This record gives sequence, C-alpha cells and structure tokens, in this order.
Amino acid sequence: MEVKKILVAGLAASLGIQLFGACAREGSYEEESVYVGVAYYDQSDTFINALIDCLKEESREYEDKGCEVAMQFRGAGGSQRTQNDQVKELIDAGCNVLCVNLVDRADPSEIIDLARENDVPVIFFNREPVAEDMMQWDRLYYVGALAGQSGTMQGELAVELIRSDAGIDRNRDGKIQYVVLEGEPGHQDAIIRTENAVDTLKRNGIEVEKLSYGIANWNRAQAQNQMLQMISQHQNQIELVLANNDDMALGAIDAYEKLNYTESALPVFLGIDGTDVGLEAVREEKMAGTVYNDKEGQAKAMMELAAALVTGEGMDKIELEKERYIFLPYSKITPDVLD
Ligand code: BGC
Repeated sequence: MEVKKILVAGLAASLGIQLFGACAREGSYEEESVYVGVAYYDQSDTFINALIDCLKEESREYEDKGCEVAMQFRGAGGSQRTQNDQVKELIDAGCNVLCVNLVDRADPSEIIDLARENDVPVIFFNREPVAEDMMQWDRLYYVGALAGQSGTMQGELAVELIRSDAGIDRNRDGKIQYVVLEGEPGHQDAIIRTENAVDTLKRNGIEVEKLSYGIANWNRAQAQNQMLQMISQHQNQIELVLANNDDMALGAIDAYEKLNYTESALPVFLGIDGTDVGLEAVREEKMAGTVYNDKEGQAKAMMELAAALVTGEGMDKIELEKERYIFLPYSKITPDVLD
C-alpha cells in the first residue's frame, strides 16, 4: 500500500492530477483516497464541459467530508481509439475508479476489458451503453437522465405554448409546421427526444406537419448551417423549431438573426439542457423554453458512487435501478420559472 501511495502521489504530481483536500482519518489514507479518472467524448461540448465543472465542484465538496479526492480529466476529441488509450493511461496512473463518457456508446468493450483486468469499476455517464454491454461485468454503472422524459417535457412545453398563443400558427391552417434539429445519430438522447416530443404534441391533439430535419450533432455552428438551409427551402413556413439540445436551438436562432428576420416572423424555439447560454436565451425570451438536464445532480451521483465503490462505504445508501443505473429527473424551464 505504501508503495502504491507514493506511486499515486508522484503520478498525481507529474500528470497534473487535481488533488482536492486531504484525508481526515489517520491511518486510513490509502483506503479513503478516491482517484477518479474521467474520460469524456469531446472537449467542445457545452453541456459536457458544464457537467465536468460540476464534477470538480462535487469533488471539492467531498473533500469537506474529510477524504482526499484526486481527479484527472481526458477529452477524446471525438475518437474512441483515443479514449481507449486515455483510459489505459488513467488506469496506469493509479486511478481506482473511472467515469467514462463514451465516444461511441456502442463500442465500450475495450474499456470494459481494461477495467476488468485491473479491477477498476466504471461509471459510464451521459452516453448510455446498450444493456448487453452493461452486463459484461458486475462493476459497471451508469449515471444519466431519462431521455424519454426530456422529449416528453419538450413536447409539453410546445403544447402549452401553442394552446395559449393562437399566433404561433402563423398561416392559420390549423397545423403547426415544424422542423427538428437532431443530435448525433445513434445517441440515445437524439432518437428518443425527437420521438417523444412529436408524440406528445400529437397525443395532445395538436396537428403537426414536419417540414424537414437537420442533423447538427449537438453543435451550434452546425445547427446554424442546417437551419439556414431549411429556411432557404421553407422560408417563413416554419412555425416551430424542436432542437434536441440548447446549443442547436441557439444555432437556429443565430440563423434567423443572420438573415435579419423581424421578431414577428420568427418561429418558436425549444431546446433541452438549460446550459448557461440556454437559460440566458430563455430569460431574454429568444428561446421559448428548455428542459433542465440536471448536471449538478448527475455529478453528485457520480461522485457519491465513485467514493462508495472505492471506500466500500455508503453503497447501501445509493439507490440503484436494476443494480447499476442512476437516472436524474429533468424539469421544464420557461421565462416565468426563471423569474
Ligand atoms: C446533451 C447534449 C450533449 C450530449 C453529449 C446530451 O444529453 O443534451 O447537449 O451534447 O448529451 O453526449
């Protein structure tokens, strides 16, 4: 243990691991130290960056409870191969628990094998592996949110708006012409959010007509380009823009701003996430609403689970679904909620 302690402390220093605090309980240094390796799919993702900030904050708070936490972060720039190498590096550096936001959620096998060989438990987050992969080993967990719920809530926001403002149906044809901006194909949130949002509108008796959709991979600039194309095709026919996340809703707004549309000619924009920029847009009423993706709750759950897995303490207090899942609820955000 002593050798491991020195090794880890040395590596922490040489690799720039962020160390938060020191363990309060004498003589239990090794057992109480939580060395978390965090691997995430891409450094440019607004929501993931905010979630990483929450995780740093959580580890500081955990420190206040009297134990040492070290965290090391690796962004994979969208390459699963890079992420596999990074996970190996993190394990070699002495991390005793991993938090992994997969690049390709259908391809976790190499990471699972590495973790199992070294007996390092893995908490996947935000990009959910398929159920079969989650069963590959009994030390695999997932922390995220229920994709279906966010889509349903986005649909409910749209229903409430359409019912309260007849002017949204600008051409008065009794139908809402809409377009969708979708996240990465294959991401659980992209597929399910779109389906549930549209189903909710229909279930509530709103007649809708899908004019088009664009895949913008969660990205604001890509969403702006997609939206510019859709506007050139459909001009002012578009009455509602359903975006799978806030960044893409903001990209759509950027497109309209670029074309100097007047406010009365704008469609309704709805996002998901409640990122800082997203909330600001709701506050300014540029975006009609969003659905809060509880990054604070997810970070807290990850930190608690990581600590419990390493120290063996507190596992009984963690509520797991199907023994390995934690899902945090979403909530609806409109300008009045922010007031
Ligand atoms: C978020 C997106 C984010 C994606 C990354 C989703 O849950 O809503 O904003 O880009 O996760 O995996």
